Order: sequence, then C-alpha cells, then structure tokens
Amino acid sequence: MHIQIDHPCVQHKLALIRDVDTGHKKFRELATEITEFVCYEALKNINTREIDVQTPIEMAKCHTIDHDIVVVPVLRAGVGMLEGILELVPTARVGFVGLYRDEDTKQPVAYYERFPPQAKNGTCIIIDPMLATGGSTVAAIDQLKAFGAEDIIVICIVTCPEGLALVDEKHPDVPVYTAAIDKYLNENKYIVPGLGDAGDRLFGTSH
Ligand code: PRP
Ligand code: URA
Repeated sequence: MHIQIDHPCVQHKLALIRDVDTGHKKFRELATEITEFVCYEALKNINTREIDVQTPIEMAKCHTIDHDIVVVPVLRAGVGMLEGILELVPTARVGFVGLYRDEDTKQPVAYYERFPPQAKNGTCIIIDPMLATGGSTVAAIDQLKAFGAEDIIVICIVTCPEGLALVDEKHPDVPVYTAAIDKYLNENKYIVPGLGDAGDRLFGTSH
C-alpha cells in the first residue's frame, strides 16, 4: 500500500528540491520541511491515550501519543530526514541501518545496524529520501523484522512504480508514504525525473 501526499505546499517544496540549482544548504532545509508534511500524514492514525490536564479554567480531556516511535534513517541520505521527524515527535527513539547501493549491481550492501529494543513493540518509521529499485528499503525492512519489529512504515520523498511494486511484493504489510511517485528508473537505476543523488545533494559531496 502507498499513500502520496499531494498537498500544494508539499508539491511547491518538491519543485524547489528537484531544481538542479538548489544547493546543499537549501536542499537540506527542504528535505526537513517535506519530511514534516509527509510524517504528519503518516502518523495520522497513531494510537493516543486520553489524559486529564488542568488548564487555568478547568480540567480538559487531552490526548497524547501512547506509543514508542522508533525512527530508522537509512544511512546516509536518510539522516537528511531525521530532523523533520524529530520536530514532530521529539520523544522518538532512533535506530540506524547502514546500506549503500553497489555501483555495478545496484544491489544494497549492508554495513551497519543498531536498533533500540523498543523497535520490537513500537512503531518503526524507516526514512530514506529515495525509494528507487526498492532494494534498500526491502533490505531495511528485512533487518527490522529480523530484529523483531512488527509495525513498520516507510517514509520517502520520491519514489517510482518499480520500487513501490517491490516493497508491495516483499512486504505487503508495510505502507509507504511519499511526496512523489515519478515516472520510471533510467539505465543507472536513478529515478526519472527524480532529484539526482540525494546523499550527494544533502551532504555537498559529488558523485
Ligand atoms: C540511495 C538512497 C537509497 C537508495 C535507493 O542511497 O538514499 O538508500 O540509494 O536505491 P534503491 O531503492 O535502488 O535501493 P545510496 O546507495 O546512494 O547511498 P548513500 O545514501 O550513502 O548516498
Ligand atoms: N539513489 C538516489 O540518490 N537517487 C536515485 O534516483 C536513485 C537512487
């Protein structure tokens, strides 16, 4: 299952982040802002608990998030979305998956994993700006499930039909929230039109 957030404010920011002339400082700011919008929607149905709060006037019935949230950025580009989620859920715990795409085979290569124990019972949010072939996202989900996680969602910024189809095939229980579903993958397995190499653009490195 996937959900595209096509709110005009998100689409406006997407136009800016895609622009080849957007430098890394602005790119990072936009990645944070877009992530906040997509995360806001993704957490719409999260469990809450009713609590009583004494206001200056009287007791009010209020609702707080009743759930451990574990955010899992896929290194490296996923780190560029972390600030956006932590602004919305400051108490979230953070785990990490280190994966890079082999330049020749385009297959994900795992090099790091560290999850808090709460990943087993809480809601895990995998963040990675690009879901291209879907190989990296599927590998991250595999790792989280092997650790014991049962409730997982994915938040990305740009994806394409090929990547969504792979995640759906391998993990039909994991919803993907995205700001854009682009046309297709090119011969180098980059998303078209996409926004280029997200890690390089976020961190000011060159390919
Ligand atoms: C990018 C991106 C995803 C992956 C997407 O990372 O951030 O993790 O590629 O491609 P896929 O869906 O085809 O697996 P990359 O491998 O370039 O590593 P980096 O974040 O360290 O730059
Ligand atoms: N990784 C990226 O950073 N961009 C793409 O388009 C595909 C994979």
